[in-house]
Amino acid sequence: MENVKVQEGVKRETFTSQFGVLAAAAGSAIGLGNIWKFPYITGENGGAAFVLVYLLCIAVIGLPVMLSEFLIGRRSQKAAIGAFKDLKPGTPWFLTGWMGLLAAFFILSFYGVVAGWTLNYIVFSITNKLAGASPEVIGQTFGAFISDPVKPLFWQVAFMIMTAAILFGGVKDGIEKYSKILMPLLLVIILVLDVRALTLPGAGEGVRFLMEPHFDKLSIKGVLVALGHAFFSLSLGMGCMITYGSYIGKKQNLGSMALQVTIADTAIALLAGFAIFPAVFAFGVDPSAGPGLVFVTLPNVFNMMPGGYFFSILFFILLAVAALTSSISILEVIVTYFIEELKIKRSMAIIVGFVATTVFGVLCSLSMSPASVVSTWTFPTLAGMKNFFDTMDWWSANMFLPLGGLFISLFAGWIMKEQDVMDEVSSGGEFQVPWFKTFIWVARTLAPLMIFIVFLYSLGVIKV
Ligand code: PHE
Repeated sequence: MENVKVQEGVKRETFTSQFGVLAAAAGSAIGLGNIWKFPYITGENGGAAFVLVYLLCIAVIGLPVMLSEFLIGRRSQKAAIGAFKDLKPGTPWFLTGWMGLLAAFFILSFYGVVAGWTLNYIVFSITNKLAGASPEVIGQTFGAFISDPVKPLFWQVAFMIMTAAILFGGVKDGIEKYSKILMPLLLVIILVLDVRALTLPGAGEGVRFLMEPHFDKLSIKGVLVALGHAFFSLSLGMGCMITYGSYIGKKQNLGSMALQVTIADTAIALLAGFAIFPAVFAFGVDPSAGPGLVFVTLPNVFNMMPGGYFFSILFFILLAVAALTSSISILEVIVTYFIEELKIKRSMAIIVGFVATTVFGVLCSLSMSPASVVSTWTFPTLAGMKNFFDTMDWWSANMFLPLGGLFISLFAGWIMKEQDVMDEVSSGGEFQVPWFKTFIWVARTLAPLMIFIVFLYSLGVIKV
């Protein structure tokens, strides 16, 4: 039972192999954010210049915050709330963990809905539902589906059941095992799609769109979108990587793990871009279609593409797989909270977490259905009143994640003893960490400062 640590009478499972940690953490990071959101915000914000800024945000802020989360988790051997209580007892720092828990609830509720759409689109692809349909019909089909009061719920619940089912296996036989199977599958599918897209006649224009920066097309708003997305895409700011960090064995090198996860996440986002834009440009459709890019624009592209039937099925399986390894990490944050703080059994914790997030998700889905009373509910955000779905998204992405990231960075930089941080990132002196001083400086000043600027933007203090 080497992978079980005993601490304060609670058995803690850990991931068992280096590849297992990488697959699980990259599985969390790589998700709808990479394949659904990154391409459409890149399309909306002008292409290559946006990509460059995004890469900068990932390197300067994403990487150090990820390392901070890993080290806080492994040091404390606890999930988000317990970690802060353990490392700085008797202080309000644990509220950062609470905010993360709330973010997990909010994110999983709408994430499960969009993931459910992807399951439905796998079936649409297999049954050839959209074959030969005009762009108008494809658009209307999507609109009618997401605003249906019943159909999306079926798929959302199915997806949430899959998520919960994996967690029943635990850390090693659930999260690690499935991530080790699903992540290589995801890589193979995306590479196949890349080869298909890049060999289409006219693909070059899409490649240029991603590679030739036009800074005149980049707005300050685009810079802020890039920073916010860096958090979402790397699963940062809500304690997800703190939780996973607590499952990383003491002998693993946290710095290189954070680097590998960051590179994997970024590479998949770029590969998704290279699968989508060359095809979009080759068939002359609009790259800036927004959230409907993969559900409306791509089915049009598949209709025109040789082998489109096959590639469309592959694409939506890819999306579902990516979503699944992320949703398990979000539900795990909630589940570990129940286990550690409320001292309930894992199976019970999973059921409670599943029911709560699924009910929230049903409300998200119904908020898009004019037939449901939920669609008339609106809630305040600092960007005006929004429906239930958009409220969940807005508060988590614009408030909780950046604020959480800010506090996590400050905690690792200022609150923890430098010696303890050093001890953790070097695994007790086992690894050389020549970058340590730079890391501490970034965690103390640069990262918090940049996050603070985004936050002020979210609050509307800075207007662009
Ligand atoms: N990183 C995931 C994605 O890109 C989403 C996520 C956010 C997962 C926050 C966990 C925590 O889809």
